[in-house]
Amino acid sequence: MSCSVKPCIRLENVTVGYGGEKILDNLSIEHLGTGIIQILGPNGAGKTTLLKTILGLLKPWEGRVIINGEDVTGKPDRAGKYIGYTPQLSLHRIYYPITLRELVECCLVMKRKWPRLVLRREEKERVIRVLEQVGLPREAWDKDFNNLSGGQKQRGLIARALVRDPPILVLDEPFSNVDPTGKIELAELIAGFSREKLVIVTSHDPMLLLKHTSHILLINRNVYVYGKPEEVLIPEIAEKIYGHAVIRVREHLHILDSHA
Ligand SMILES: Nc1ncnc2c1ncn2[C@@H]1O[C@H](COP(=O)(O)OP(=O)(O)O)[C@@H](O)[C@H]1O
Ligand SMILES: [Mg+2]
Repeated sequence: MSCSVKPCIRLENVTVGYGGEKILDNLSIEHLGTGIIQILGPNGAGKTTLLKTILGLLKPWEGRVIINGEDVTGKPDRAGKYIGYTPQLSLHRIYYPITLRELVECCLVMKRKWPRLVLRREEKERVIRVLEQVGLPREAWDKDFNNLSGGQKQRGLIARALVRDPPILVLDEPFSNVDPTGKIELAELIAGFSREKLVIVTSHDPMLLLKHTSHILLINRNVYVYGKPEEVLIPEIAEKIYGHAVIRVREHLHILDSHA
């Protein structure tokens, strides 16, 4: 299988930080094909830092980011060809009035030189298709983004990430600010995308997407473990990453029942 036909990501010995402070040290991961990579770790572990490095928004001190065979290290324009991104909602403020539909449309016209702000008919239809695909009701499409519920905002950001049909989706904490039922519905939606795309997702609840997850990266700054869920989600490794926040129970049955 070649990197040019399937979504493919490789991080080679990535070391990255801010100013003089090192956050991630010598991190290497690789994944070929569709599916889900979950990135788990406590707050401040470096999850968002890692996503920004994958997106080329942060240039690592050392190492390389290769996507579909192309070196995109520190090059957001190049990485953006392959990746649709939803930022962490809690860090993503929009200080101007913009409707959900406009937010998604902007993504199509942003890079265009001419005609800059006029959407072609097929582009308008594409926007409508993704808004429907993420399950947003028609009444919400022309509402101000800032007035929507947490779950609707999250779906709106996913629609924006999807509109150019990239092979890779990067979702930073899509389940935060979403109520419990909404989380399960959103997980089903994300799992659906992972049949055709590679989805890289940070989360605090590995169970929501576990059935569909091919790899997990457990990370806390310079300590990380990458592997299949059954190799990584074991008490010894969780304790290494989360320390005292891990509670061992003898038997634990966790049932995700959507009551459908
Ligand atoms: N722009 C920045 N400048 C300086 N330090 C930052 C910046 N962004 C994040 N950090 C620091 O890097 C560490 C990792 O942050 P982050 O990647 O946001 O963690 P996570 O997403 O896992 O919560 C934190 O200590 C945070 O304070
Ligand atoms: Mg974060």
